Amino acid sequence: MLNVNHLSKRYGSKVGLEPLTFETAPGRILGLVGPNGAGKTTTISCLAGILRPNTGTIQWKGKNLSDQSGVVSLIPESPEVYPLLSVFEHLELTARLFKLGVEWRQEANRWVSEMDLEGHRNTFGSALSKGLRQRLLLACMALRHSQVLLVDEPMIGLDPKGQRDVKELLSRFKKDGSTIVLSSHQLGLVEELADDVIILNHGAMVARGSIDELRQSSDASLEDLFFHYTGAGSRNPS
Ligand SMILES: Nc1ncnc2c1ncn2[C@@H]1O[C@H](COP(=O)(O)OP(=O)(O)O)[C@@H](O)[C@H]1O
Ligand SMILES: [Mg+2]
Repeated sequence: MLNVNHLSKRYGSKVGLEPLTFETAPGRILGLVGPNGAGKTTTISCLAGILRPNTGTIQWKGKNLSDQSGVVSLIPESPEVYPLLSVFEHLELTARLFKLGVEWRQEANRWVSEMDLEGHRNTFGSALSKGLRQRLLLACMALRHSQVLLVDEPMIGLDPKGQRDVKELLSRFKKDGSTIVLSSHQLGLVEELADDVIILNHGAMVARGSIDELRQSSDASLEDLFFHYTGAGSRNPS
């Protein structure tokens, strides 16, 4: 019940995103794929409310998403945390900002443990790796019960273990009923995780559907389709 209608964004005279319409629902992961400059971050930033679109509406459960506080959480490509706050203090700040009830502390402790942050409870933000910063933001999101999770290029800069952790965490939040929009230029990741896929190229949607629909839309593999639509180079670079 996330409805995006005719969303578009220009940067001056440059197109960031051509009008884009899609919908997705709780318990689903929507994958935005496309090469660099395709418009993935622009789309995610508009959904997150940090970029003002030129046209379009973004509705959650029939009402403007931007009027509903706390629904959306963003994990940007470079997750920012407060350098001088500890892991637990970030959760405390979240609880205070969103005026969570007194039981927040118990729930925060649970998320510290579930996100495997126990050993970093008192670590300052400035000392956290990208993977830990992602997990901290996920813990903050879970604490405030955000229903829509926006994740931009989560795999960049992570080692293989970190990448596996992210996959597990996203699957877990999906299972718990989050509505997830995931952007990545890595088709394989999206193919593995997403229920629905939108392929973007030069700011425009060039294909969309469920993974199965995209697979069945031609004899080509999803990867071939991706390269067909985006002209993003050979799939066998040598
Ligand atoms: N702040 C900006 N100013 C001008 N152009 C931008 C800005 N951010 C993005 N763009 C342009 O918008 C297009 C889409 O970019 P982006 O959404 O970052 O793509 P992606 O995340 O898929 O790599 C690109 O052509 C990019 O150069
Ligand atoms: Mg991007």
